[in-house]
Amino acid sequence: MASICTVDLGLRSYPIDIGAGLLSAIGPRCIDEGLTGRALVVMDEGVSDVYGPTVRQSLDAAGIKVLDIVIPAGEQSKSHTQLIRIYDAALEAGLERSSFLLALGGGVVGDLTGYAAATYLRGVPFVQVPTTLLAMVDSAVGGKTGINMPQGKNLIGAFHQPALVIADTPCLRSLPVREFSAGLAEVVKYGMIADPALWDVLEQVSLEELLADDDLLETIVLRSCEIKADVVQRDEREGGLRAILNFGHTLGHAIEQVAGYGEWLHGEAISIGMIYAARLSEEVQGFPPAETERLIQLLDHLKLPTEFPDLSWDGLMKAMKLDKKRKAGAIGFVLANHPGDVAFGCPVPDEVLAKVWERTVS
Ligand code: GLY
Repeated sequence: MASICTVDLGLRSYPIDIGAGLLSAIGPRCIDEGLTGRALVVMDEGVSDVYGPTVRQSLDAAGIKVLDIVIPAGEQSKSHTQLIRIYDAALEAGLERSSFLLALGGGVVGDLTGYAAATYLRGVPFVQVPTTLLAMVDSAVGGKTGINMPQGKNLIGAFHQPALVIADTPCLRSLPVREFSAGLAEVVKYGMIADPALWDVLEQVSLEELLADDDLLETIVLRSCEIKADVVQRDEREGGLRAILNFGHTLGHAIEQVAGYGEWLHGEAISIGMIYAARLSEEVQGFPPAETERLIQLLDHLKLPTEFPDLSWDGLMKAMKLDKKRKAGAIGFVLANHPGDVAFGCPVPDEVLAKVWERTVS
């Protein structure tokens, strides 16, 4: 039995279906949601052979005419080149406003397809069918879409909410375990920002047990989506509160950039970023050190990195400052008072940032 979480945004509200075996029912679900025109399915090449036929067949059987396009795997596909390929495919097929796009794959395909949908004919509906944990619990939900530029990630984009999200949890078993672990970093983050009970759940199972248990997968994906939906409902366009979704991301993004994109998976960099943010929180907010130790143990248990990388502090600092400047200098750190209770926009003096880094690496 699948769970449904609703993102309640008035006319732009949408359901997130979570459970096992949902791919084969995609066609009728699209029809239920009023998506009855033609569909352009945008697939990551890593999943096109495995899941493409099931999705296609279900849409066909529901009377939805389907065409598809395969996108090369990897972050470099969040590009103008791939965007233009999608527009070309849609134009050649004569897709109209009554048509929709469907993203099948991880965050790259989701963000790219979402942006294509936001801009094609000034906006058509799209469906997110995330197949990675990171996409199921984060990028497929909340309407952030976009592509990268040589100058940086996600510099071109739009808020465009999907019409429907379908998370078929058994897809997670076809991922390398490293990818699954990286997605769990975001689940740990939800525990920190809103619901420490998620930590209790993750502490009690091994990675293998979790991956094999569809009910448990459904529970953690559902709870993560509920937390994200709640934040997005209250601050869709990141005027303030939505920043809490970036706990651990300030240093995490800097690590990804300084190490060179592709070296660290996003969730791996966030693992280190969360430990750093917890240490800063001890310093600035009185966060209990025992909770930082618990966080480290949990990340280690989930096979996420906990040792700080040998990267230049100056380089990381520069990357963090540039990131903040891009956001008009207004975004401070997201820091925790306790697990489940965080504050955003917290200013931290540069000396404290350096002191905590040095203390943590040594
Ligand atoms: N991934 C952070 C957000 O959606 O706001």
